[in-house]
Amino acid sequence: MRLRGCSIAGLGSYAPERILTNADLEKIVDTTDEWIVTHTGMKERHIIADDQNCSDLAMEASKVALDDAGMEAKDLELIIVGTVTSDTLFPSASAVLEHKLGANRAATFDMVTGCTAFVDGIVTGAQFIQVGGYDNVLVVAAEALTRITNWEDRSTCVLFGDGAGAVILQPDEPGKGLLSYVMDTQGFAGEFLSLPSSGSAWPPDEKALAENATKIYMNGHEIFKMAVRGVPDIARQAMKKADVTSADIDWVVMHQANKRILEAAADRLGIDREKVVCNIEKYGNTSAASMGLALDEIYRDGRLQTGDLVLLVGFGAGFCLSATVLRWEK
Ligand code: UT7
Repeated sequence: MRLRGCSIAGLGSYAPERILTNADLEKIVDTTDEWIVTHTGMKERHIIADDQNCSDLAMEASKVALDDAGMEAKDLELIIVGTVTSDTLFPSASAVLEHKLGANRAATFDMVTGCTAFVDGIVTGAQFIQVGGYDNVLVVAAEALTRITNWEDRSTCVLFGDGAGAVILQPDEPGKGLLSYVMDTQGFAGEFLSLPSSGSAWPPDEKALAENATKIYMNGHEIFKMAVRGVPDIARQAMKKADVTSADIDWVVMHQANKRILEAAADRLGIDREKVVCNIEKYGNTSAASMGLALDEIYRDGRLQTGDLVLLVGFGAGFCLSATVLRWEK
């Protein structure tokens, strides 16, 4: 059976209005603008409003993507939401979004893979398209990370922001759109980035609240090392599978966790830093949402052109790595 192609037919993103600057953070914890900028590249991040939830961020990005594809929500057959900050563990984020969008025909499920979920969602959605199961798939990566941020921990609270990115996947001619993917998990490193009291092993209780165990824990140093080693490796594997080289890549859209990781990966891959999209100064680390926000930015400002070859690379909790090479067909 010859597989169908799968291309992105619509793209959108959303960031909440409220902005938290490095100067604001200086008033909350013992930090400085200088430390944050030199260690991360971040200057400000967007923060979810009190009357918004993660599903609202997902909905706003989805509406833009649907509009971009010239579609209505009722045309959707499948909705995949990537998030670690769903409104509730269940009903799922995708089920909540289905209702909010009025996408009554759509099947739904979530991907709780953390910062790789935008890539994981696209790769998974593409499987349904390529075998002919569905023709209209919405993939949304949305995070309300500041709701699970420990505002007493300066080593993490300066990093995170909120936002959402969404794509509509549709069939294309064989060989078009998504060209390759590689996904890898190094579960031994799971302890380095976790939400300790969040599931059945340790349901949130008074002890968890007292110890901030319902908030993000990260050993940034270990994750940094794993990212700098792992990103070039998984990117090379995805390029090899797509039969392309670093020289062919027009844009690298990577998880926006740290500007130094973006630069190190670019240098190790031999790709011009100008081709590695960086908008971390405006949004901070929005986990799963970051790559949707970055891809949408180069689409909206006209940098991304039809026919461009895009390398997407995600990394994060798990420890997971996911990469895909796609031809931009829009
Ligand atoms: O999205 C999921 C994936 N996440 C990532 O990829 C994150 C990867 N890790 C990182 O980006 C970096 O490790 C961080 C940005 C989190 C930290 O940067 P670093 O250069 O690795 O700093 P560090 O943790 O080694 O800390 C260096 C120093 C320490 O002080 P001492 O022990 O040298 O005296 C920290 O206490 O910086 C101190 N420090 C701070 N100082 C001012 C840590 N956070 C802050 C802060 N302001 N916010």
